Amino acid sequence: MKKILTIVGARPQFVKAAVVSKALNEKEIQETIIHTGQHYDHEMSTVFWEELNIPAPAINLGVGSMPHGAQTGIMMQKVEDYILEKETKPDGLMVYGDTNSTLAGAIVASKLHIPVIHVEAGLRSFNREMPEEINRILTDHASSILFCSSEKGVDQLAKEGITDHVYNTGDVMYDAILRFSKIAEEKYQLSDLTNISANNYILATIHRPANTDNEDNLKSLLSAFGRVDKQVIWPVHPRNKHRLKEMDIPENLQLIDPVSYFRMMVLLKNCAMVITDSGGLQKEAYWMKKKCITARDETEWVETLEGGWNTLTGADEEKIISAVNSEPSIPWKPLYGSGKASDMIAEAILNYH
Ligand code: UD1
Repeated sequence: MKKILTIVGARPQFVKAAVVSKALNEKEIQETIIHTGQHYDHEMSTVFWEELNIPAPAINLGVGSMPHGAQTGIMMQKVEDYILEKETKPDGLMVYGDTNSTLAGAIVASKLHIPVIHVEAGLRSFNREMPEEINRILTDHASSILFCSSEKGVDQLAKEGITDHVYNTGDVMYDAILRFSKIAEEKYQLSDLTNISANNYILATIHRPANTDNEDNLKSLLSAFGRVDKQVIWPVHPRNKHRLKEMDIPENLQLIDPVSYFRMMVLLKNCAMVITDSGGLQKEAYWMKKKCITARDETEWVETLEGGWNTLTGADEEKIISAVNSEPSIPWKPLYGSGKASDMIAEAILNYH
């Protein structure tokens, strides 16, 4: 029986693990999950494990918040200790996306000669100032099996000389939407979450340091929010709570606590459009056929830009207002696979020798 060790640590990775774990289990691949503890607040972590019924982690390394070097380093040390304490090495170590937990897992496994399995491989924003871009590049180059969300990822890896065991599976977050959105709607009505009616609000999330730690950018975003003719609902990442307390908040902006995956699905389903700097939410907006305005200057999810379904505005107030007032110019079409990514991933892992 194949044995896989999976490393997760941050909110979006819990969602991805929920669908992939199930697929591995169905193929009788034995999976052990390690939670690095990068996200630790109840609403950033536990709530996802409970709601999505993710198999409990064998261990939570409790690493928590620290500067990047320290955080990644301590994760590496603890993951390595965990692996070395066991009698047998796993057949592969799986990581998701581009966080510090991803990089830590990939470096440790490659040094222990354990094949690294990277889900969401081949993505590039080409902005090396974002820690995620460095994490993506290094993880891909340490990986033995690479699962891409689209053909663009496969092409990018080929340009960088990585061609073996590269698969275009589509995106596991699409599997998650297909599997969970109905369940989410059965669990929550919009009125359980907000007193604003459907299509009368914009759903916003802003958490990138380039926006939240730069006062001019944050002011510009808040000013844009204040000019839209709808309410704006913003579930706030804990790192930004204090900063927002010091700012002037427009009257139409509702700051709420971070929400669970199911709650987010319902808020997304009923919103008029999305304004975000998140990676995952750009895709989720697209799959829910919502226009997205991305408060960044580049995106790794370039396919969503076609026809204006997604628009890059940075933190520029005028660009945001102009995007709010324009409509996509082409019909919606499926992107990032058919919702079978997790099954394809499990199958490829089973057949890897
Ligand atoms: C991380 C990822 C980012 C991803 C995001 C998903 C990296 C480099 N970044 O960003 O790619 O989009 O997760 O949400 O890995 N904090 C809390 N409680 C928590 C977690 C964090 O209060 O449970 C606060 C702390 O002040 C902490 C800060 O948030 O210092 C940043 O957390 P961290 O995990 O380092 O990065 P994120 O911004 O969450």
